[in-house]
Parts: sequence; C-alpha cells; structure tokens
Amino acid sequence: MKRDLLSIRDLSAQEILGLIAKAEKMKSELAAGVLPMSLEGKIVGLVFLKPSTRTRVSFEAAIYRLGGQPMFLTAKDTQISRQEPLADMARVLERYIDAIVMRTFAQSDVEELARFASIPVINALTDHSHPCQVLADLVTIREKRGSLDNLTVVWVGDGNNVANSWIYAAARLGFSLNLACPPGYEPNHDMLDWAAGQAKGKVELISDPKQAVAEADVIYTDVWASMGREREAGERIEAFQRYQINSQLLASAPPHAIVLHCLPAHRGEEITDEVIESPRAPVFDQAENRLHLQMALLDWLIGSGRPGA
Ligand code: CP
Ligand code: NVA
Repeated sequence: MKRDLLSIRDLSAQEILGLIAKAEKMKSELAAGVLPMSLEGKIVGLVFLKPSTRTRVSFEAAIYRLGGQPMFLTAKDTQISRQEPLADMARVLERYIDAIVMRTFAQSDVEELARFASIPVINALTDHSHPCQVLADLVTIREKRGSLDNLTVVWVGDGNNVANSWIYAAARLGFSLNLACPPGYEPNHDMLDWAAGQAKGKVELISDPKQAVAEADVIYTDVWASMGREREAGERIEAFQRYQINSQLLASAPPHAIVLHCLPAHRGEEITDEVIESPRAPVFDQAENRLHLQMALLDWLIGSGRPGA
C-alpha cells in the first residue's frame, strides 16, 4: 500500500528514527560518491502554490541525485488556476508520474490529493504544518548534539505551521517542547489538547521567553508573519518584540544550547544578525539536511529502500 507524508502525526517513532538514520547514511553516501540510484526511472511532480527556495531546490536536487526526474508545476501553468478539482488532478497525475510533492495553503488540499491519488503525496508546507522541515531538523539536532535523548526544544515566536510539526514530533518521540509565543499567537488549542492527550512528550506553553529557554538544548524560531499573513506584518512586529532571539535572550539559556531557524530569516525581527551569523546558529547545516532527509524520504516512499533499511 502506498504511504504519504502529510504530517509527522502519521508517523511512528520507529519510522521517524528510521528516516533520520537513513538520511545520515545517505549524507555519507553522497559525500563518498556512492549514493544508490534508487529513483532511476521515477518522475516526481512538485506542485508549488507558494514560493520556495530550500524546499523546491532540495527536493529537485534529491530527485536528480537519486537518478529520478523532477517536474516543477505551479498554479499559473496548470489548471489549478482555473479551479480544476484536486481530486481530478490526483487521478490524472497518477497516470503519468510516481509521486507528488505539494506546497499549498490548506492542509485539507494535501489530504484530498492523497486520498484520490494512488501515488505517494508529500506535504512540502501547508498553513498547518511543515513535516519535512522538522524531520530534517531532527537530523541536524542529532548531528550537533549526538543524540535525541533527554531533549528540550524551545520554540520562540509564532505558533505557526513549523511549531505544529514540532508538537507532533515531541509527542511521537517523547521529548520536551516549550512554546514561548506572544498572547494570541499560540498554536491552536486543538493542537495543545491533542498533545496533552498523548502518552509521550511534554508540550508546555511558557509565555516568558527567558523562562522558556532556561533548560533549552535547542532554541528555534521562524518568521513572525508566515506566507499568506504578510498583511499582518506590522501588528505582529509590535506584538512579537519580546520574542526576538538576541544575545540578551541567549544569556538566559544554557551555554550549550544551539539556535535553529528554518529560513528564510528576517534579521532584526525574529533573530538578530549577530546571533544568526554566530557559531551557535548552524542554520546552513540545517538547510543542507533538508536534502539528505528528503532523499531518505523519497527512497522510502518510491525508491528501493525502507526507513532504517
Ligand atoms: N525552510 C523552507 O521551507 O524554506 P523555503 O520556503 O525556501 O522552501
Ligand atoms: N512559517 C513559514 C515557514 C517558511 C519555510 C511560512 O509558512 O511562511
């Protein structure tokens, strides 16, 4: 049966750890020039209804590097712009290609595509979640810290799509996640209730950022106004002032804590230039790991491999 990646919630801890291990293996294989051509003969469609640098390029590169062919599709060049139903598009694309990677607005869009397509569908960011980002970030954390055991991740900023994927990851892998968000910008209460009902993971709202980072191993931030929320940027800049990652905030964190940012960053807003350019913020290594994680993911879903194989 085909598998999709729509949300980290849909993965078991074993599958997540398997993907991380596979990404680490493929990273070494790429460096050694011995990557398997496990996508040879496969075509992957990338349907992107929002801009992207990292996700688009890392998926295209991952597909090429494994011997497959990417096909980039935007709304403007397809009948999506003329409201062709996603259910129809799913049943057409499955006749031509082997998997679909989609970046869109509503999570229900990727769910609908996956329901109707007999080929795997990968969520490349929706307003609700960004699973590929957080799976790749777990690779980065293990790389920098050596382990995911006894981990405390602190989210500082907007309770957005990336924050939601962190909530799912914390519940699946059983680590601690502190969320420091301005009042009114916390993740949706359904998310927090869901996390509270899970057997594993400790997800806590701690509105004071200094208090939230006190035990941090990883401090994570993202833009204050996500794609689609640009019109709220002005009011958000006011509401988020106390939630900037700067050297004063880092002074309240343990010295070993690293700073991650999914990028693109708005220097001077959610993070200072000084912090993002410092050795504490390995954000370009983080961006690189998108490639390795997505190679592992594609290999699992349509290649010859399985997570952990
Ligand atoms: N982090 C991330 O998904 O970046 P892009 O929007 O450039 O793909
Ligand atoms: N939260 C951001 C992430 C960008 C990668 C957005 O949705 O715009």
